[in-house]
Amino acid sequence: MALALALAFGLAACQPAATPPTDAEILQAEARVPADVALAERYQRSCRVCHTVRGQAPLVGHTASWAPRVARGRDALLASVQAGLNGMPARGLCPDCSDEELRRLIDFLVEGR
Ligand code: HEC
Repeated sequence: MALALALAFGLAACQPAATPPTDAEILQAEARVPADVALAERYQRSCRVCHTVRGQAPLVGHTASWAPRVARGRDALLASVQAGLNGMPARGLCPDCSDEELRRLIDFLVEGR
């Protein structure tokens, strides 16, 4: 039993979307935009296209999808965005975003506001 649980949690850690978003959560995600106008412009032409759809990318503002990633720390998340990760191109398709802007965009994706 303990082994089965350990295995289950181990596997869960490798599967980011353990709780897939509902249709309502997808609609919520589509409506989210950073309050800051300059950041919103960057978000809408880069992160948004992948992080508001059902797929590999964790949904903006969807806590269950982000929890296992946030547990690794924001610096680790920034490093993934800078270098790219599997389906995500380097700098999340925002080559002109500064590291500071990427940090703010990551905070927005995780918190949804
Ligand atoms: C072309 C699609 C695409 C775009 C554009 C994109 N992402 Fe992603 N992103 C993904 C995918 C797919 C993953 C999941 C990668 C994996 O874990 O296999 C991901 C994962 C992430 C993660 C989690 C990384 C980790 O270490 O777990 C963060 C943070 C992130 N994206 C931030 C951003 C930000 C910020 C932007 C905009 C600047 C952005 N993404 C743009 C597809 C995209």
